[in-house]
Amino acid sequence: MATILVLHGPNLNALGWRNPEHYGTLTLDDVNRRIAERAAMVGVEVECLQSNHEGALIDYLQERRGRIDGVVINAGALTHYGLALKDALTDAGVPVIEVHLSNIHARESWRRHSVLADTVRGQIAGLGWRGYTAAVEAMAGIIADAAGNPADEIENPA
Ligand code: DQA
Repeated sequence: MATILVLHGPNLNALGWRNPEHYGTLTLDDVNRRIAERAAMVGVEVECLQSNHEGALIDYLQERRGRIDGVVINAGALTHYGLALKDALTDAGVPVIEVHLSNIHARESWRRHSVLADTVRGQIAGLGWRGYTAAVEAMAGIIADAAGNPADEIENPA
């Protein structure tokens, strides 16, 4: 079964009480539970990890190199300046989807630029926690396509 690594960057451990108007009221555990449910529906394994430290996120990517088939990442503020993380995502050698709970393009000017954007397969921003489940589902399809399996067999498992 394919494995998707879901990475949450700095301050995302504070979901639930942090800026709910931008990030919603679900906790990170709530979000990870929804991610795991969607993963089970589309027939993939997920591993969800969070760190407030860029180096720890890089360590996770390097440790799991060769054992993951895709990455879904909300890099938090590292999105806007995390060049070492950007390199690690490239070096992972698997498709990456960038997720943001808020619409970064409708916020402060410094949030509108993502240094990851030209590294990733695609970006989802502004859909709240649903962005993660959409990304996991899309990634399952991308992995299935690459493996030569018709996507609808994966998306509608028997
Ligand atoms: C965020 C947007 C970033 O600008 C911010 O620093 C975050 C969360 C989002 O999910 O909308 O920590 O990535």
